Amino acid sequence: MKMTPMAQNCGVEISGIQLASCSDTEIDAIKQAIYENGVAVFRGQEFSPEDHIAFAKRWGGIDINNYFPLEDEYPEIAIVRKAADQETNIGGAWHTDHSYDQIPAMGSILVARTLPPKGGDTLFAHMGAAYDALPDELKQEIDGLEAFHTADHVYKADGLYAQTDMGKELRGQDLKTGAVHPVVIRHPVTGRKLLYVNGGFTINFVGQTREESLPLLQKLLAAAVREDNQCRVEWQPGTVAIWDNRTTWHNALNDYPGHAREMHRITLSGEALAA
Ligand code: SIN
Repeated sequence: MKMTPMAQNCGVEISGIQLASCSDTEIDAIKQAIYENGVAVFRGQEFSPEDHIAFAKRWGGIDINNYFPLEDEYPEIAIVRKAADQETNIGGAWHTDHSYDQIPAMGSILVARTLPPKGGDTLFAHMGAAYDALPDELKQEIDGLEAFHTADHVYKADGLYAQTDMGKELRGQDLKTGAVHPVVIRHPVTGRKLLYVNGGFTINFVGQTREESLPLLQKLLAAAVREDNQCRVEWQPGTVAIWDNRTTWHNALNDYPGHAREMHRITLSGEALAA
């Protein structure tokens, strides 16, 4: 197994391994690489839906997604789909999955099933590098702060997605979500400090209104996605990417009009987050 960094601060490409048949020692090394680098990319994988589910179970629990369509035969698998005649894509802005849950998902395993002829890459940004690069006075300002996260404005019946051509595919529009997490968390395994607010689901700092929160929130969001914190996953048939939702944010680029793209996603259960 060989590990090659994808960029200065984010991502690792892991070659010489088939995920469907890797050993326990190999999976331990893969997990550690993902906790540290945020996202790992594997090429040339023979990875059926059964392999996808069996591999996910080797990490622990699976969080079944409440909103996206599920694979009929395999409800553990959420379908991240954009049809050729659709305009809006799922996840087309910087976010981290499930930060609106009390116990946010650890990460996701995304498998390329149908790809456009070009485009449809996914950007990742490393929140440890983002935190480290903040000016000291900003680090002091956010020390001890907590923030409120929800997904309701995105998924509710008249929410952001419902107003697009993606709305009809969604489930769970009546669900109510909300969770408070520290703005700076410690990675549960590596102990590294990570910035934990995101553009998709973080609404306000605890004790402040949305309006009062916005200036600082926008400053943090801009700092988080500096180009030198990022890496880019270019999908090919047989590519699998696994990411850590605590360590990274991601953004699925929507630059392939007129073409379909379909990915299979399993979301891995996480643990409570702490400062
Ligand atoms: C997502 O999980 O947000 C979608 C990622 C992608 O489609 O590349």
